[in-house]
Amino acid sequence: MKKVVIVFGTRPEAIKMAPVVKTFRSDPRFETVVCVSGQHRSMLDQVLSAFDIVPDIDLKVMRPGQTLTDVTVNVLQGVSDVLSAAKPDMVLVHGDTTTAMAAATAAFYQQVPVGHVEAGLRTHNMWQPWPEEMNRCVIDLFARWLFAPTETARTALLAERIPEERIVVTGNTVIDALLIASERIRTDPAVKRLCKDQFPFLQPDKRLVLVTAHRRENFGGGLRGIYEALARLARRGDVQIVYPVHLNENVRRAASEILSGVEGVFLIEPLEYLPFVYLMNRSHIIVTDSGGIQEEAPALGKPVLVTREVTERPEAVAANAARLVGTDTARIVAETELLLDSPDEYRKVSCAESPYGDGRAAQRIVETLANF
Ligand code: UD1
Ligand code: UDP
Repeated sequence: MKKVVIVFGTRPEAIKMAPVVKTFRSDPRFETVVCVSGQHRSMLDQVLSAFDIVPDIDLKVMRPGQTLTDVTVNVLQGVSDVLSAAKPDMVLVHGDTTTAMAAATAAFYQQVPVGHVEAGLRTHNMWQPWPEEMNRCVIDLFARWLFAPTETARTALLAERIPEERIVVTGNTVIDALLIASERIRTDPAVKRLCKDQFPFLQPDKRLVLVTAHRRENFGGGLRGIYEALARLARRGDVQIVYPVHLNENVRRAASEILSGVEGVFLIEPLEYLPFVYLMNRSHIIVTDSGGIQEEAPALGKPVLVTREVTERPEAVAANAARLVGTDTARIVAETELLLDSPDEYRKVSCAESPYGDGRAAQRIVETLANF
């Protein structure tokens, strides 16, 4: 039996690792230890309960207003202690958060091989996204297994001279998670009703624009640009703008300053995963700077406008399922109105092919490690 420690700590890692945890835990070839850093608290717990995952270890590192240094130091020390006690054969981390980088580093220091889920995403700009571009580059430097979600990611890794035999293209595990959630909403009327009942304010005759925004490099002017655009779009009167506001105080302050009380804009608390998937399905357009949502929207046939200057997920842009619109107010308004007012444009984007996987990424990861 191989012993694997799986570490994650934020909402998106939890969503994307949930199918991986489930697959490992149901496989008798592995002893699986789930260690959450608790870099996020309530947003992480929402996902753990949605997927019925009880972690074996919780490092509880989150502090209000935490710095990158706080998170790095606490996760590095906490995971280091866990690995000393557990002595695993391998450690799995996900993506580009500070939890992932610090946990992988702790494993590297103890010479425990690391598997990196969602390897090879790159903008080639260390400041966008910051600090995530650094985090993922560091993990990929020494990971023993690089689970690249797409061929594009694999090509990026090969260009960095990472040995080919370490890379496996799996698809993105977010599609596994999305399919699990969609199936539960589709097949369980009680779940569907619970989701629907959370949004009594939605009007069938108005199109829903779903928004999220939280990137550190957008704090300040970037967020302001996005929020001014939402306020202008709301004035049209034929849309409802729903924005579950991330719990980061920098985001909340700016959102309430510019958007609270604006008619047609609904600022709500972060949603559990199932109601959020329900809302994505119910939406007409999604405006976001989120990584995960850039991958989910094309799989649901929803046009996604990405409020960033660059993206490490160029596949959706190339497939015309996503448009990179930056944070300039006029540009966001113009691109959103184009989709609202031109049925032809809308059709082109919503019919684009989804490039991020088939829902079997977790199985491929487990098989690779079982056969190693
Ligand atoms: C983190 C990740 C980012 C990821 C994002 C997903 C890093 C450097 N950043 O950014 O890559 O895209 O999560 O959402 O790893 N907070 C709460 N409760 C929560 C979560 C956050 O109160 O459940 C507040 C706390 O005040 C916390 C702050 O948000 O200190 C910032 O959280 P942090 O994880 O450091 O940064 P994010 O911006 O969430
Ligand atoms: N999400 C959620 N509830 C919300 C907003 C987002 O469950 O209120 C999900 C979303 O479907 C996606 C993930 O959270 O799977 C994205 O997380 P986030 O945007 O925080 O981080 P990123 O993907 O940018 O790292």
